[in-house]
Amino acid sequence: MALLRLPGLIDPHVHVREPGATYKEDWSTATAAALAGGFTAILAMPNTQPPVTDETTLEAALQLAREKARCDYAQYLGATAHFGPREAALAPRTAGLKLYLSRTFGPLWLVSTETWHHPFRLWPQEAPLVVHAERVTLAAALFFARLYRRPIHVAHVAYREEILLIRGAKERGWPVTCEVTPHHLFLTQEDIPRIGEGRAEVRPKLGLPQDRAALWENLEVVDVFATDHAPHAVQEKDSPQPPPGYPGLETALPLLLTAVQEGRLTLDDLVQRMHHRVRAIWRLPEQGETWVEVDPQARWEIPAHGWHTRADWTPFVGMKVQGRVKRVVLRGKAVYQDGRVLAPPGSGRSLRGV
Ligand code: DOR
Ligand code: ZN
Repeated sequence: MALLRLPGLIDPHVHVREPGATYKEDWSTATAAALAGGFTAILAMPNTQPPVTDETTLEAALQLAREKARCDYAQYLGATAHFGPREAALAPRTAGLKLYLSRTFGPLWLVSTETWHHPFRLWPQEAPLVVHAERVTLAAALFFARLYRRPIHVAHVAYREEILLIRGAKERGWPVTCEVTPHHLFLTQEDIPRIGEGRAEVRPKLGLPQDRAALWENLEVVDVFATDHAPHAVQEKDSPQPPPGYPGLETALPLLLTAVQEGRLTLDDLVQRMHHRVRAIWRLPEQGETWVEVDPQARWEIPAHGWHTRADWTPFVGMKVQGRVKRVVLRGKAVYQDGRVLAPPGSGRSLRGV
């Protein structure tokens, strides 16, 4: 069995849920799921309880990560309507600034464009600024990026109209980068009956088959694959008010390796989008002596249960994949092997040195 060796994958879009909703996930379980999925570093989103929006909440989240993370990490700051110079000064300690410009899970929604000016103007040019901006709101976000002449990164592009806007912006040389998720690359509204209405809830919502096709057709303008790992308890997903989001850390690599096997992208396309481009956009240090060993021949079916994430379900259940993580080495140490996470909580390091 010839093993394939990949660099440690980096997921720039993970909802860890701690502080606050540790019954959904915490730093220990999220980073165990990351290692099992071949990710040796994650960037954590700020829509926690409380949300990470200032120095106090940032330090509290980082302290939890120091104590519990099993892989390397950085933490995003979320912008509120009160964003100012004090928050902008936190940039070096963060993964970047997240702007929720479209409505989603949690309280961090910048509903009026009046509240967008300060973050677009004050956040340092060289620090990542990530927007959740769907459909028409994406056009508004691109307008602000132009207005303040600054780079932005667009999270989870999901629809044809969005990838075409980004293509247009890139063709004009605007400094915009973007990511797509495995769920928008492999699922559409047609999968909702199979997944179940509540479980299928996600933001951005699943698209039409033509949206999915447009993402594949425009893969050259997709910089990054990010999971948007958004765990919720199955009881919540099956309730009358299901929160949006899917766990994704443990299924992303097998799904994408299967697409490589099928000739839909190359292995280099994958490694660029899950390692090199992520490091370049977020200006992340190299993780020395770090790699992932994959059995590229292993064929398996995505199971319903048995995952490391506390949200022990997946919308990809039953899908047949080829390619399996065998072993993960982080800074010279085996941290995952044949289904077992070996790295203890607290062994992960901050990617920002804080
Ligand atoms: O589906 C989603 N879930 N989309 C988001 O934007 C937020 C996320 C969450 O935090 O649950
Ligand atoms: Zn998200």
